[in-house]
Amino acid sequence: MSKLRLDKILSHMGYLSRSEVKKACKQGLISVNNKIVKDYGLQVDTTKDEIILNGEKVVYKEFIYIMLNKPDGYLSATYDKKDKIVLDLIDKKYLAFEPFPVGRLDKDTEGLLVLTNDGKLSHRILSPKKHIPKTYYAKIKGKVDEFDIKEFEKGVTLDDGYVTMPSTLKILKSDEISEIELTIHEGKFHQVKRMFESVGKKVIYLKRISMGKLELDKNLALGEYRELTEEEVKLLEER
Ligand code: URA
Repeated sequence: MSKLRLDKILSHMGYLSRSEVKKACKQGLISVNNKIVKDYGLQVDTTKDEIILNGEKVVYKEFIYIMLNKPDGYLSATYDKKDKIVLDLIDKKYLAFEPFPVGRLDKDTEGLLVLTNDGKLSHRILSPKKHIPKTYYAKIKGKVDEFDIKEFEKGVTLDDGYVTMPSTLKILKSDEISEIELTIHEGKFHQVKRMFESVGKKVIYLKRISMGKLELDKNLALGEYRELTEEEVKLLEER
């Protein structure tokens, strides 16, 4: 059994603000188990009571999981004084859940960013002990070659002396501008860009394409998002 106040449930899910719930109750617009409810603070069992608002059944959920195809120019933050943030892209009905980004992508990095209000899941995914893989597609200024594959496999030394864990580099195109996919199992600040700097090359475009076993949905254009299915949420923690 999981009991919550009626006004809390409806505001958490973005249906109404708490004061609107009060009004709607007065107007007889809300029923629980087929009985009109006047008490907006009524304790409701979210696992079995049926709430109807304005004739519409309310399906309760505590957590929200969103896959966003992050565009360039947005900060992976929940607040910023001057820059655009990823939450600016998300509809108000989802913002009621107070989602936050799971980890960060740089302002100019595109691709898979998961937003959730599930702090425990986020913590598990980001835990350095879990080594959840993250795969990036990148365009690199300079010819990426076998030497880089071997170096990344061994671990490279970043500008602050940190030696990276073994990572897997796949070369898609080796030219003046190369194209690669890189899978890393940790998330140091600017990690991919700094790894390429350590072998004398520059990342000129970066996009995350997967996290755990969850791949970015190719049908999502930049700036588009959708909710994850339960199965997809599980994929996030698989290696
Ligand atoms: N590595 C980077 O350098 N930037 C990102 O946004 C993600 C990984």
